[in-house]
This record gives sequence, structure tokens and C-alpha cells, in this order.
Amino acid sequence: MISVRFGSPTDAGTTPWGTLVLPVVPGAGGKPVVAELANLAGSADFADEVAAFLADDERAGDAGRVGSFSRPLRDPSRITLVGTGSGDARSWRKAGGALARTARDADVTVAGLPAEAVASFAEGLWLGEYRFRLGEPRPSDEVKLQRVTLMIQETSELEAALDATRIIVRQVSFARDLTNTPSLTKTPAWFVDQVLHQGVPEVAATVREPDRLIEEGFGGIMAVGGGSAHGPRLLELTWSPPGATKHVVLVGKGITYDTGGIDIKPVEAMQLMRKDMGGAATVVAATLAAAQLGIRVKVTALAPLAENMLSGSAWRPSDVVRHYGGMTSEVHSTDAEGRVVLADAMAYAVAELEPDLLLDFATLTGASRIALGKTTAAIFTDNEALAKSVESAAALAGESVWRLPLPDDYLKETVAEIADLNNAAGNPGAITAALYLREFAGSLRDRWMHVDMSSPAWTAENDGELRKGATGWGVRTIVNWLSDEAQSLS
Ligand code: BES
Ligand code: MN
Ligand code: ZN
Repeated sequence: MISVRFGSPTDAGTTPWGTLVLPVVPGAGGKPVVAELANLAGSADFADEVAAFLADDERAGDAGRVGSFSRPLRDPSRITLVGTGSGDARSWRKAGGALARTARDADVTVAGLPAEAVASFAEGLWLGEYRFRLGEPRPSDEVKLQRVTLMIQETSELEAALDATRIIVRQVSFARDLTNTPSLTKTPAWFVDQVLHQGVPEVAATVREPDRLIEEGFGGIMAVGGGSAHGPRLLELTWSPPGATKHVVLVGKGITYDTGGIDIKPVEAMQLMRKDMGGAATVVAATLAAAQLGIRVKVTALAPLAENMLSGSAWRPSDVVRHYGGMTSEVHSTDAEGRVVLADAMAYAVAELEPDLLLDFATLTGASRIALGKTTAAIFTDNEALAKSVESAAALAGESVWRLPLPDDYLKETVAEIADLNNAAGNPGAITAALYLREFAGSLRDRWMHVDMSSPAWTAENDGELRKGATGWGVRTIVNWLSDEAQSLS
């Protein structure tokens, strides 16, 4: 992790700068400028060069734009200009992420960073430097930056904000690692092991293996996992702080690989299906973060983990699956497997855990991407206050959500012939999936939300604080929501 420390502003100009990083903001008439450059000790020496450089690049103020020029044999020996756009949290994260990826030196000093930007900027640096480490990193991917000195008066509030950010980023990175890991390694048992080895003793864990899943009636998880040589698991994590007045249950889809099953996917659609446990990674990482941050809400994470394979023991189209608690699903597609494992976990939560609020996170449908594009998650709930609270937590995190409706018009399509529900009721696919899941929220129907994160769980390009591959989407939204909104919801 890049080390971020504070330097005393009064020392500015008395010790060598080395590489100096300056934030660029849009100035009068939209022309990019470095704010208050004249107030920086010694800046008379290089202000003209900065002005000339900025005059050459009218987009230098765009969030995440990085420009640099070197000054051989002089100090600063290099000046790097980082665009910070409108100066909101999102822009600062983007700026930090871009700097982490493009800095050409190991050690830089940042001057002119406002105190309120410190946490977002560091969050961007740390999320932006993330790399999935498996074997030797390729040189082209190497992050050079190791130490960032912020010329800002150190305060206990800034220290605390940085500490919290560090915890959150570590858990986002953990979720990314889990999701990026190839499925030859990532069996349900392996996923559980990774979580148990995170060393967060405040969180209690229960692991259900196939014998117990069968005995307790988790027929959905067993059906979906039945085709794989690597048996399914149900992982249950609990963070139960003293004095908590709310209990939130978070359910995450944990399909370690989705071939589609007997309804096999074409190879292009299957290629990235190791990410199909992104929901489970998100709820687990958010729960560990809640414990490490000491958030005063009881949180249970449920991760139904299974590999959707095809083999002689695989489930098949037209099967009837009996879920935890007794509801049944008729299998119209073995590729609509996510909702079938979520259904078991939701029914279990409602029957046994007495949640105040129930949220599920899942890479559930390709249809959500067709509706909302490549970075936005679809949220579904009948609860206005819950919708508003998650929308504002997501906005704070810079994670995009959009609410879709749960219209009654399609309810009849979710009904099956020889079972209670049809697991693949057809178009509109994201909506019929949500309507199916709502049937398992039971008495919590009005205190439930479904989040379809199929799109934002993965990104094809480096962008701001995101690295190509798994994004860890949702961890920051959940943490924001738990630490603020969830406590005031009735
Ligand atoms: N895991 C997929 C959904 C998905 C697709 C996630 C693309 C991320 C990117 C899910 O299990 C699935 O296959 N859904 C089907 C549902 C259909 C069979 C009713 C889909 O979206 O096509
Ligand atoms: Mn599928
Ligand atoms: Zn799937």
C-alpha cells in the first residue's frame, strides 16, 4: 500500500521538493490553473513553467488528467499536474487513482491539497494502485509510487479519516482479489477459507457443508451445486456489536463459476463467469469492514456458494427444487441459478435471523446491463426510505445505482405449473428476477432490497480508482449506508 503521510507546510521550500505534485482546477473562463500557486514557498521559481505547461493543455483541469515535466538539475526535479475537475469527492478519487497509476517516481510531495480532499484523494491512490497479484506482475503494470507526502497540517481528524479509508480500501481489495481469482482455484471451499483467514476475530463464522445443507433443506443451493466436483457451501458471518439496535442481513450471490449448466452458455458469455460470486465477495468484505470500523449495527452476511456446472449429477431444465422453508421452483433454465441459491439464503434469513432489513447483492442478469449500461447497478425495493438511503450512500461512494420498478404486471409469469415459481420468467429479465426473489422475502417484503450488480462488478478498463477487472463494487456503498442511514431507518 502506498504510504501516505503528512508534511509540515511550514517546511515548504526549506527541504528539497523532489517531485512536486500540484492539483489543477478550472480557473476563470475555464482555463486550468493551480490554485493559490503564488502562496507556495519558492513557487516564483517555477510558476512561469507551470503556467506555460497549462497554457498548452486546455484539458489539464479534467479530473484524472495527469501531465508532467522534468526540470533536470533543479528543484523540484519534476512537476506533475493532476486535474481535479469540479473538486468533489469523486474527482479527488479519480485524481488519486490516476496519479497512482502514472507516477514515474517512488516518492512525491503534494502541495495545495485541501483538508477535505485528503480521504478521497488517498482512497483514489490506494484503490488505483490495486493489482491482482497472481505470479509475477508484468512490468507494464508495475506501480512505481511508494510514498506520498501531503503538505498539510496533520490533525487527529485527518489521521482517523485516513485510518478508516485504509480499512475500507483493504476490504475492497479483498473483494477484488476474490472476484479476480480464476475458478480452477476458486472453489466454494476455497472462498470460505480465504474469508476465515482474514483474521477478524470480532466476526463469527458458521460454514454449512453439503451434509448439513441437505439435512436442513437448502434444496436450491444443493441443486445448483450438484453438478460440480467441488461441493457447495453456505457461509454465514456475524458482526454483533454490543448495544446494536438494528440487525441487517446481507445476502450475496456466490456462484464460483457459471457455465449456465445444461442450458450451457456460449463461450463468449461464459468467459468472464468467474466473477459470478461478486455479490458474495461484496457482502463478506463489507461485513468485515463494518467490524473493523466498529459500526454499531448488527450485520449478518450470507454467502451461498456453488459452482454451476454440467455433468451427470447436474440439475436439469424441468426439475423442481424445494427451497429452505418449503417453497418450490420449477427450473425453466439452469442458467437462472443465482436466484435459486439466493432464495434459500433469503428464506433462511427471514425464518431464523430476525432481520430488520434484508438486502441481496447479485450479478444476476445480463438484462440489467442492457437496461442501465456498464457501470450502474439496478436496485429494487418497495420501501421508499430504503431506496433513498441506499441512493445517497452510493452517491457518497461514487458508485452508481438506479431504481427499477417491481410492477405487478409480470407476477403471473413468475408462477409455474408444477411448482410455486418459475425460475426464468423471461423479459424484462432484471425485473422478473427481482419479482421472483421478492417471494422469498416473506414478512420482510417491505424491508427488502435487491441489488443487481452484474455490470459494475467488473470493468474492462482502468478508470479513476478502478483497475481493469473486478471492482469490489458495493463494499463502499454498504459501509457508508451501515454507518449512517441504516441506523435511522425504522
Ligand atoms: N450470471 C448470469 C448473469 C450475468 C450476465 C452476470 C452477464 C454478469 C454478466 C446469470 O446467472 C444468468 O445467466 N442470467 C441469465 C438469466 C436468464 C437465463 C433468465 C441471463 O441474464 O441471461
Ligand atoms: Mn447463469
Ligand atoms: Zn450466474
